[in-house]
Amino acid sequence: MELDVIIAPTLYGEDELRDRLCAVVDVLRATSTITTALVSGASAVHPCLDIEEAKGGAAKMGDGQALLGGEERGKFIPGFDLGNSPLEYLSRETVEGKVIFFYTSNGTGAIRRTYEACGRPVYIVALNNISSVASAMVSAASAGKAEGIAVLCSGRYGKPSTEDLLCAGMVIDRVAVGLRDNGIITQMVDGASIAAGFAAANEGHSFEVLSSSVHGRYLKTIGYSDDLEYTSRLDIYDAVPVFDGQRIVLSS
Ligand code: MLT
Repeated sequence: MELDVIIAPTLYGEDELRDRLCAVVDVLRATSTITTALVSGASAVHPCLDIEEAKGGAAKMGDGQALLGGEERGKFIPGFDLGNSPLEYLSRETVEGKVIFFYTSNGTGAIRRTYEACGRPVYIVALNNISSVASAMVSAASAGKAEGIAVLCSGRYGKPSTEDLLCAGMVIDRVAVGLRDNGIITQMVDGASIAAGFAAANEGHSFEVLSSSVHGRYLKTIGYSDDLEYTSRLDIYDAVPVFDGQRIVLSS
């Protein structure tokens, strides 16, 4: 089975992801925040393509059922309830039972486009839930549900980012080991080898990778240093968020 990592969000050809089992990663910070919101009891997260779509979706819900969350250029969007710091979504009191209409600069669009490109449910992964998503992908692929596997990095405004490369490399490495243990022959294509090599070279140094990345440095300048420590923690959640084309919920 072919294993791939798309190291920047536009680096795949037409039909290249079709029918593949795909995961999307945006460590800083969309997929970390989505995972945190669902673990804190949000009933669903709708990834939106723009601010208007998010506002329109929330407006259709009954009073008090929806929250607007996300960011533009990392910053709070006027009129929204929450930003894109995962720490804001740790409070059960704030998010429990709510449907969150969520827009971010790179991550939510990457999730939507990946669903269109592969035509099947998409896993949402961050460093916080890396092993549970890798195991879910191994189980699905071992059950014959995939021709190949791809992890797509959301990156930053079309360019690669080291924090996503790190997480994608760790996921693909765990998936390779899991499939091999199940007797499935795997082959990494070059994007996957690049990501797995970067992850191996930086093992145990997630925080340093996030702190020295372009987006990590930017987040520090706008007051979000604490997010770097939180999003760099490995496997704090046993949670598998999945986007079904409409919304993201935790897979049971
Ligand atoms: C994004 O989707 O671009 C990010 O989540 C940006 C951020 O750190 O808020």
